[in-house]
Amino acid sequence: MPERLAETLVDLWTPLIILWITLPSCVYTAPMNQAHVLTTGSPLELSRQSEDMRILSRSKRGWVWNQMFVLEEFSGPEPILVGRLHTDLDPGSKKIKYILSGDGAGTIFQINDITGDIHAIKRLDREEKAEYTLTAQAVDFETNKPLEPPSEFIIKVQDINDNAPEFLNGPYHATVPEMSILGTSVTNVTATDADDPVYGNSAKLVYSILEGQPYFSIEPETAIIKTALPNMDREAKEEYLVVIQAKDMGGHSGGLSGTTTLTVTLTDVNDNPPKFAQSLYHFSVPEDVVLGTAIGRVKANDQDIGENAQSSYDIIDGDGTALFEITSDAQAQDGVIRLRKPLDFETKKSYTLKVEAANIHIDPRFSSRGPFKDTATVKIVVEDADEPPVFSSPTYLLEVHENAALNSVIGQVTARDPDITSSPIRFSIDRHTDLERQFNINADDGKITLATPLDRELSVWHNITIIATEIRNHSQISRVPVAIKVLDVNDNAPEFASEYEAFLCENGKPGQVIQTVSAMDKDDPKNGHFFLYSLLPEMVNNPNFTIKKNEDNSLSILAKHNGFNRQKQEVYLLPIVISDSGNPPLSSTSTLTIRVCGCSNDGVVQSCNVEAYVLPIGLSMGALIAILACIILLLVIVVLFVTLRRHKNEPLIIKDDEDVRENIIRYDDEGGGEEDTEAFDIATLQNPDGINGFLPRWGLPTQRWEERNAIQTGCV
Ligand SMILES: *[C@@H]1O[C@H](CO)[C@@H](O)[C@H](O)[C@H]1NC(C)=O
Ligand SMILES: *[C@@H]1O[C@H](CO)[C@@H](O)[C@H](O)[C@H]1NC(C)=O
Repeated sequence: MPERLAETLVDLWTPLIILWITLPSCVYTAPMNQAHVLTTGSPLELSRQSEDMRILSRSKRGWVWNQMFVLEEFSGPEPILVGRLHTDLDPGSKKIKYILSGDGAGTIFQINDITGDIHAIKRLDREEKAEYTLTAQAVDFETNKPLEPPSEFIIKVQDINDNAPEFLNGPYHATVPEMSILGTSVTNVTATDADDPVYGNSAKLVYSILEGQPYFSIEPETAIIKTALPNMDREAKEEYLVVIQAKDMGGHSGGLSGTTTLTVTLTDVNDNPPKFAQSLYHFSVPEDVVLGTAIGRVKANDQDIGENAQSSYDIIDGDGTALFEITSDAQAQDGVIRLRKPLDFETKKSYTLKVEAANIHIDPRFSSRGPFKDTATVKIVVEDADEPPVFSSPTYLLEVHENAALNSVIGQVTARDPDITSSPIRFSIDRHTDLERQFNINADDGKITLATPLDRELSVWHNITIIATEIRNHSQISRVPVAIKVLDVNDNAPEFASEYEAFLCENGKPGQVIQTVSAMDKDDPKNGHFFLYSLLPEMVNNPNFTIKKNEDNSLSILAKHNGFNRQKQEVYLLPIVISDSGNPPLSSTSTLTIRVCGCSNDGVVQSCNVEAYVLPIGLSMGALIAILACIILLLVIVVLFVTLRRHKNEPLIIKDDEDVRENIIRYDDEGGGEEDTEAFDIATLQNPDGINGFLPRWGLPTQRWEERNAIQTGCV
């Protein structure tokens, strides 16, 4: 057996074989007596080590032949012997010298160059440097010539349990819901041990709890912390301090340990119902408080926190459910009672409400513990307030006919003082709403009378404000709008809807409609207008025109024959009587002017006698030029006239109106209206005989009429 092993060694390690002699277990017990020998690989030399080899083979360990071991943290009086280099080369006469080089050669490891003993001269720390790589060589003592190639080997620093476990991330914080079941996982912690984790138990950790029992437990190997009691109550105790220990050497005595703390906070679950602080609340409120005003607050306390403490408030019963409402104030977690409808002390002086607070976020796990709500009673006392007068209606609508007599009563308002000490009321009209003082009011009974006549055609509505004042307290004032509608009375006669001017074609046919007219009436009868048209009684048998009423309330004027001729008669006047359907009916006579004109075959008016008639409103460019030419001509005449007179040395005095009339055309600005037959008719200047039969014109302002004639006279 030793021989076979030796052969293997020779195969592996020629020429230098590094041999480890000691057993690891021996190192702990008697390190001082042990030495490591490195020897060159001759079978002979190895046989000398056969006794040691037998020990090695018995240990059944894997051998690493190029390693030496040295214990860390060794501190004795003498340097510790790590091992020995030895070569079995035949030195002959030469002396052999051993040379060591590599990590720590000479500083940490020292070699006796004659004996080959290697000593560690410094204390070693495996956690700092676990192995050193060195090179050994045998050289000729005299010449320093290498006797064989250098050989590399490793000195491993052997672990001892010199590091305690450490919790690098501690202290720890964790949360777990209150009321959790036993064994609920809370968190896990980890400790680290710097010692060699693969060799020995120096880094084998076991966890335990030093403080924090019986609430929490820890799994020794995994360090998972769990609850050890069921139903821990946050409302009883919220925070727990747990001290955790990690111990190496598998927890055996002699091992090193480290501790950390874990703070466990129980989080809230909704396991508590709300509870009103009082079962009865008293509030009082003046009857005239503004709607929406907060009257009082009720609060149900809840031992839970956050949303688990949130409650919604409701009025669930009582005689004031219609008048009051409660809103939940999420911020203050209380309920605010507000007024929803007006109070009246005189009607009801107190109310009782039953209010309820109910948790919003119910946890089904605990709903069997009972309803998560509570109720309380709220008593509200209404206090009397001095209130202003109250009108019998919030608005009034009065209707009055426009012909109502002055001082007649058109309506009445009433008001009363709602207070128990009912004060008499005085009424007045807010004059800002009746600037024209159209109405009066009786201060005592509120009867409204007419002060000035009404005209519906001027104003249909008179919207005024009536003021009621308490006699005993003038500051108690109320106002009410009163809309007065003026009803129609038939006080306006119908008339033509516009100024019509009709044209009649000389070549027209009998029965032809020459004009359609409609009427208007300022009144506003309920069933709309219905007009009756007729010719004046003396004109009923008019040989020239006839009238025909149309469906749409309008009237058509028809020519009766085709014998009209401008030369014979240029203009016809047709008075028409229009009456309305009022009771009694009103009527008026309007006169239609009909001009005879020359027309084309298809009935388009070509020319009436006077061009201006064809252009009744705007003057054409040609007409303007004509007017201008007229004025210049007149000026020339005047200048000539004056110069001639001067030449005759006659004073410039107009002696005789007739002289002027001969020469100057005068514009009479004072139009006399329809009946002004005295208006200056310039046409007579040109045609003193009046052969064209010009009659006084109704329905046209005289001035315009004369202007047109002026154009005709001067220039056409
Ligand atoms: C007056 O009041 C009536 C009824 O409220 C309303 O219809 C009308 O428009 C008002 N008239 C004026 C001029 O304010
Ligand atoms: C009818 O017209 C003729 C001339 O065409 C005239 O003489 C007569 O006065 C007219 N009658 C009426 C009633 O206008």
